[in-house]
Amino acid sequence: MNRLVLVNKSNRIDEEFLKDISLVEVLDVNNQTILVEEETYEAYLNLKEYLNHMNIIISISSGYRSLEHQQRVYDNFVERYGVEYAKSVVAPVGCSEHHTGLAIDIDICVDGKFLTSNIDLMQHEDIYLEIHKHLHKFGFILRYMKGKEKITGYPYEPWHLRYVGNLANDIYLSNLTLEEYLEKNFTN
Ligand code: DAL
Ligand code: ZN
Repeated sequence: MNRLVLVNKSNRIDEEFLKDISLVEVLDVNNQTILVEEETYEAYLNLKEYLNHMNIIISISSGYRSLEHQQRVYDNFVERYGVEYAKSVVAPVGCSEHHTGLAIDIDICVDGKFLTSNIDLMQHEDIYLEIHKHLHKFGFILRYMKGKEKITGYPYEPWHLRYVGNLANDIYLSNLTLEEYLEKNFTN
């Protein structure tokens, strides 16, 4: 499978890609069974262990999402926050990186409790900033960076990690979004 696949508002997930993903069942932060792409999960476990040594405890709040699942996420946001906000932070069905199985949202544990709301998580940005420094060592990139909203199409999301494998270090050092990196290196 192509772990550099680009999925965003202009690039819908390809049906063929979906047939190719090898997903594993894992437990999320709420002990519910979710799916994550196999190699992504292995990399996540290594990242998690590394962060444990720094007293940073993480868990996954969201992994692979089917088209129907993304619709539920969108509907839930509409119900809670209204259409405008939902559109600004939730990808349209078919256009979410979560369809690839290569994207995970990570929660952090603060004072013995996992925080679940985005507002609470944002208040501990310092912990995320520490995590971000190490992602590339494990094949991950921060997908929705601060200041790159116009390119990625989404506001800063410190919790949304994308597994890309070997090129993570190169992408990290470039300080480019995946959109920019692919454009620069893989188009003529
Ligand atoms: N929150 C990200 C953009 C998604 O819905 O895939
Ligand atoms: Zn996400």
